[in-house]
Amino acid sequence: MAHSDERTVFRAPPAALADEQSQLEPFEWYERMRRTAPVQYDDKLNRWHLFRYEDVATVLRDHERFTADISSTDIELVDGDPFETPGTTTSMLRTAPPDHSRRRSFATPRFQPGTIAEHREEFGEIAADLLDSIEPNSTVELIDAFTHPFPITVIASLLGLPAVEYDRFREWSLATTELSPTDASAARQAREEMRSYFSKLVRDRADGDGDDLISLAASNDALSHEETVTFCTTILVAGNVTTVNLITSALWCFAEFDLFDDVRSGAIDRETVIEEVLRYRPPAQSVRRVTTEPVTLCGTQIDANELLVAYIGSANRDPVRFDEPETFVPERTPNPHLTFGGGIHFCLGAQLARLEADIAIECLLDRFSVIEPDCSSLRPQSLVYGVRELPCYLEP
Ligand code: HEM
Repeated sequence: MAHSDERTVFRAPPAALADEQSQLEPFEWYERMRRTAPVQYDDKLNRWHLFRYEDVATVLRDHERFTADISSTDIELVDGDPFETPGTTTSMLRTAPPDHSRRRSFATPRFQPGTIAEHREEFGEIAADLLDSIEPNSTVELIDAFTHPFPITVIASLLGLPAVEYDRFREWSLATTELSPTDASAARQAREEMRSYFSKLVRDRADGDGDDLISLAASNDALSHEETVTFCTTILVAGNVTTVNLITSALWCFAEFDLFDDVRSGAIDRETVIEEVLRYRPPAQSVRRVTTEPVTLCGTQIDANELLVAYIGSANRDPVRFDEPETFVPERTPNPHLTFGGGIHFCLGAQLARLEADIAIECLLDRFSVIEPDCSSLRPQSLVYGVRELPCYLEP
């Protein structure tokens, strides 16, 4: 695969997204690339970048020609990848059939829309408790106070973690996902602590009949111990880094387009506008795959064993698929965005994330009549797409 002697680091950002402004607004680059070089080889990073909706959808849906399993390549998963811990069993996200369904299918019923919807009241109470501790008539760092602790507490509750552990759990999550400034060794240490913490819980719950996700995974004989621990850490990480950004980006969009009153009054449908936030500012901007055979995309031939980066954030703004793609249209329907991926790796937590966003926004808008995010000096996060801080003035 490598076209130069340099190693191929999985998540290295392209040169066009080197500075903070372009990380926050990569959409001009996407637009230019869709027009001028929709399938482009990057010889610095040894990979192909794909920008058109049709190509991104093909890559997502055809797991036989485009695999997420990189175990037989020379790509390195270095520290800093939020979804993998180097040196341990890779997650279902990097697993191909038939192993993939063994690692995923036992959990699928828990994430069906109907099952997820049963948690509405419980999650609403979690949101209300967090909002209770916000001092009204003040400016708060809303990610710290609400949009980050909420999904973590929800996922901790689904995993069946004791309430007293939530703070530690949150610290690990912050350290491993770099939401707060931290160094690589702190992240590695947090990941190791997290694995040994889950390892003990998995052993403790192997024979139990608990209803939580850890017990479900631990009592599944089809998974090895290491695979079970990886399942738990994947759910933890995948389940909160992205969702915090969905909720935060929703508030960012509502501020940018002056939508708070219309969403609060119901003039704009909450579920519909959340889909548009998902399209417009997708928390995961890209996915990676490796070709298993020579392929042709948009007239360009690509060899087998090539790394592809498929830009969901660009596909979601492709004028071939969406009218007025650069405009935020709160009532856009249908909205066939690719934000949760597609095919066999389609996001396991999509319905959970949608419900969490719906509850978070409903509770926040019910509680506060004035919500004023300060969007004047936004800075991007490093690992997933979204802002690092969102100071916000709140009045009941
Ligand atoms: C807005 C929030 C979320 C977004 C944007 C998102 C996005 C994605 C995307 C794009 C993928 C596919 C990656 C690929 O094909 O390479 C994925 C997979 C996955 N997501 Fe999510 N996700 C979100 C929330 C969640 C939540 C709450 C959970 C918690 C259970 C979760 C668990 C997973 C898992 C386990 C996979 C791997 C599925 C597989 O490989 O079969 N995600 N997610």
